[in-house]
Parts: sequence; structure tokens; C-alpha cells
Amino acid sequence: MVNHLAIIMDGNGRWAQQRGLSRSEGHRAGAENIGKIAEAAMKYGVRYLTLYAFSTENWKRPAPEVNFLMKLIPVFCKSRIAAMVKNGIRLRTVGRTGDLPLFARKALLEAIDKTKDNDKLTLNLALSYGGRAEIVDAVNALLQAPDRPEKIDEATFSRYLYAPDIPDPDLMIRTSGEMRLSNFLLWELSYSELYVSPVHWPAFDEAELKKALDAFENRNRRFGDVAAKK
Ligand code: FPP
Repeated sequence: MVNHLAIIMDGNGRWAQQRGLSRSEGHRAGAENIGKIAEAAMKYGVRYLTLYAFSTENWKRPAPEVNFLMKLIPVFCKSRIAAMVKNGIRLRTVGRTGDLPLFARKALLEAIDKTKDNDKLTLNLALSYGGRAEIVDAVNALLQAPDRPEKIDEATFSRYLYAPDIPDPDLMIRTSGEMRLSNFLLWELSYSELYVSPVHWPAFDEAELKKALDAFENRNRRFGDVAAKK
């Protein structure tokens, strides 16, 4: 069973291009797909859903595209709050969210606050997120810690990551066919199963999600050991 699902939502641009639409239309359709997939994932027992919405590298995109994505954040928050409250979805973020414009941070904080008591699904948006940045931020947090340990082990280190209370993903899906991690959850994905779907994110639907979850059930997770652990 997939407890924590992580998704690289790739292919908004290609989806739009194939339909003669602008990249922005692709991002808008991509954002609209989040609610549907979150609700479908809940149906299959997923408790944590981490979505790669904006990477530390995405700041390099042309300013109009970055601005459009930033403006989508409050649109997403405002349009989804009621459904999140109704469905028991708690919103959280990981990443250097201090880099986001104030209007986006405010909308996120409001949605996070209004959904903080929900416990059916944690929807974790990775925003201005980079796996290497997260590790560097954890090292700096550790160096600043008043009770800084002399020596650290993996468990101690993990406590300084962005979401230490969230278990590692069981499955990571990347949509749109590319076979790379693109700096997503480098520490947390160490033992996750990987699944690449050819479908572009805005068209990735419940049936495609089910295919990935079924594929996961047929994987033999050994965690470096010899016997399968389910
Ligand atoms: C990749 O498609 C997608 C992104 C860089 C952004 C993902 C964002 C969303 C799904 C919507 C925004 C989310 C929120 C929460 C407001 P791409 O542009 O790289 O597509 P391409 O590879 O086909 O060009």
C-alpha cells in the first residue's frame, strides 16, 4: 500500500503545445488536476501526497512564466480551500518558500491555517524546492542548533529536513516520460519505487494513477536485504 506518494508533475508545456495552447494554459490545467488526483489518491489509501510544483531551478524560466506560476498559487489555494476542508485534506509546503512573492505566501499561509486540523491526507506542495537545497538547509540548521550534536547519524540528520514528521515516499511517479529525478526529494527517495508515466500531467487521471499504484503492488521491495518486505 502506498502511504506516501510523490509526483513530479511534468509535461504541462507539451500538453498545451499539442493543443495549440500557451504554456500558461498548460500550467492552469495542471493546477486544476491537483485536486482530482489528490481526491483519487485518498480513495486508494494514500495519506501523504507530495507534489513538485516549483523547483529552485524553475526561477530560471522566463519572467512571464514564473509570474504566471506564482499567480496560480493563490488561485489554487482560494479555489481549493472549501474542498480541502470538506475532504479532510491538510495543506503543507516544503522548500524555500521565503523566496515566493508575499501574495503567494499569504495565500498559502491562509490555506495551511484553515486546513491544519485535517488528517485524512496531507497535501505537501514542494515550492521553490530543491533536493540539494534541502540538504544544505538541513546542514545549516544543524550548525545553528543550540543543542548541536558532536556527531550525527541518519536519523538525527533527517530531523533537520523540511518535513521530518512525514515518512519517506513509497512511490514516486514522474509524468510525461522523462527518466530523471530533477533534484526532487534526493534524501527521501533513497528507497522509493519509481514509476514513469508517458502521460502529460494535465491529462494524468485516476486511471493512470491506478496503473502506477497497481505496478507498485507488484514490486518486490527489499531495502537492500534479500527477502521482500511489504
Ligand atoms: C512541468 O511542466 C511543470 C512545472 C514546472 C510546474 C508544475 C506546476 C503545476 C502543475 C501547476 C502549479 C501548481 C500550483 C500549486 C499553483 P513543464 O512546464 O516543464 O512542461 P514541459 O516539460 O512539457 O515544458
